[in-house]
Amino acid sequence: MSSNPKISIIGAGNVGASAAYRALELDFCDVVLLDIVEGLPQGKALDMTQMLSVTGVSSQVIGTNSYDDTKDSDVVIITSGLARKPGMSRDDLVSTNTKIIKDVTEQVVKFSPNSKIIVVTNPLDAMTYVAHKVSGFPKERVVGMAGILDSARFKAFLSMELNTSVSKIETLVLGGHGDDMVPLKNYTTVSGVPISQLIEDSRLSDIIQRTRDGGAEIVKLLKTGSAFYAPGVSAVEMAYSIIFDERKLLPCCVFSSGQYKINEQFVGLPVILSSKGVEQIVEIKLSEDEHKELLESASHVKELCDLIDSFGIL
Ligand code: NAI
Ligand code: 2OP
Repeated sequence: MSSNPKISIIGAGNVGASAAYRALELDFCDVVLLDIVEGLPQGKALDMTQMLSVTGVSSQVIGTNSYDDTKDSDVVIITSGLARKPGMSRDDLVSTNTKIIKDVTEQVVKFSPNSKIIVVTNPLDAMTYVAHKVSGFPKERVVGMAGILDSARFKAFLSMELNTSVSKIETLVLGGHGDDMVPLKNYTTVSGVPISQLIEDSRLSDIIQRTRDGGAEIVKLLKTGSAFYAPGVSAVEMAYSIIFDERKLLPCCVFSSGQYKINEQFVGLPVILSSKGVEQIVEIKLSEDEHKELLESASHVKELCDLIDSFGIL
């Protein structure tokens, strides 16, 4: 490995490999891809190394089953765990993935005690809670990826509806990464034009529902797993903002200490991501309905975290 920043990606499945590919495409860090399955991360890393001969990128990637290779990572992206299959909700994954995130986090803390952790594994908000609790890291250094993906889906559907460039669409989706996520109409614009001036309310409601069902729509099509390209890219967007101290305002799953009247709990909120991790939770004005929806979504996350606590394994 070179003197580049170092990202370790735990779980060399669909999301992990897509994240590794994106990080190498951006050529800003060396990547360690780790999995429990022997040969899987090594095979994918070798394939990507050969890809780099074509693209001429100098960053390096290795595949491994040993945490020794992850030592002193700047950022660790955790994607290990079960993915959704048709008929499963994200919450159905809770018990198995809690054990996996616990084991993985213990190793991450041991080998990269100064890292920032980005959790991707579902159910996302609850798994971010598990990683935070097990790591003992300050809350700024454990953050979950979902809001960027959910916002990206909303933007994609709006772009399809309006037949306009997605690059001029801005939006924010807050709340837990579940059916009750909160897409914010009032912060949705196309080149600064409020979305309410461009799409009728009933049609916009349909698009918001499609956004909430965005993960399930892909699970239904794929039949054997869930989305991975957009999730992988979204996780790397966060890692990049942290490593280069970009201070981007992004919707991420973070620990709220009273912001938005949400106490001591993880949920998706707008944050500034810097080299510290979560630099600041940004409190924007929400309508009464949006705030109510956010609190409802947060209460669902809390129920799951309480269920995890009842397992007595953390
Ligand atoms: P996948 O099944 O393709 O990959 C998961 C990998 O984790 C497998 O290769 C498996 O061997 C590995 N793994 C399992 N236990 C492990 C352990 N203890 N240590 C190291 N590796 C281990 O699944 P995929 O599609 O990559 O999804 C991964 C997770 O991300 C799932 O929980 C999925 O629901 C979640 N996800 C979350 C999203 C979000 O927005 N937060 C979006 C997409 C997926
Ligand atoms: C998604 O939203 C399954 O959480 C995953 O695609």
